[in-house]
Amino acid sequence: MIPVITIDGPSGSGKGTISRLVAEHLGWNLLDSGAIYRVLGLAAERAGISAQQRSELAILARSLDLHFQGEKVLLGDEDVSQLIRTETAGNAASKVAAVPQARAALLDWQRAYAKAPGLVADGRDMGTVVFPDAAIKIFLTASAQERALRRYKQLKEKGLDASLASLVAEIQERDDRDQNRSVAPLKAPAAALEIESTSLSIDEVLKQVLDRVQETYPELAISAPE
Ligand code: C5P
Repeated sequence: MIPVITIDGPSGSGKGTISRLVAEHLGWNLLDSGAIYRVLGLAAERAGISAQQRSELAILARSLDLHFQGEKVLLGDEDVSQLIRTETAGNAASKVAAVPQARAALLDWQRAYAKAPGLVADGRDMGTVVFPDAAIKIFLTASAQERALRRYKQLKEKGLDASLASLVAEIQERDDRDQNRSVAPLKAPAAALEIESTSLSIDEVLKQVLDRVQETYPELAISAPE
């Protein structure tokens, strides 16, 4: 059995950052499942396939030529890492992600990432659907206002124009779609460690996760985060 840590939560909860830090700290593999849906959204848009064309979307998902190369995300040999990170791409992702046939087509592919010495899987349904037997499940949340504010600061740091009010609205729209879809809706898995991160720093969240890993796997020599 390969050890798996699932980290689920809404967009902007910091799970991408935390998942990467946990994976780096433990020297485990990382699966950014959101990137898969983002690339699928982009590929669908380019192919002129809408979320209503369910079987076409499933075919596209099955043949998606997506690779992770370090921090880069490649579609064929095109580096789409930046292109898939916009709010528009996030919204396109959440539309294709609501299609059950597309999700089913991506299931085995995601499970194949569980390789030694272990996997940190980041997403919305990692603990509920993709890795239901994971020994450690984390559900990371923060208020919509705080998540929008974090995103706003990120955009400003990059010198990009942003409106806090429209970021809050976009985040709420995406939460709503992710929580209310019929297949694999965003919800805390049973027995998950829920971390409400609105007033916590990244280091505080990281420590809580690593403490849980140490309790679950006492044989691992986990150093304190720097
Ligand atoms: O996590 P990220 O914001 O990159 O995910 C983009 C979108 O992909 C989410 O809003 C969600 O609709 C979808 N997604 C999903 N299941 C996952 C990961 C992401 O449905 N495991």
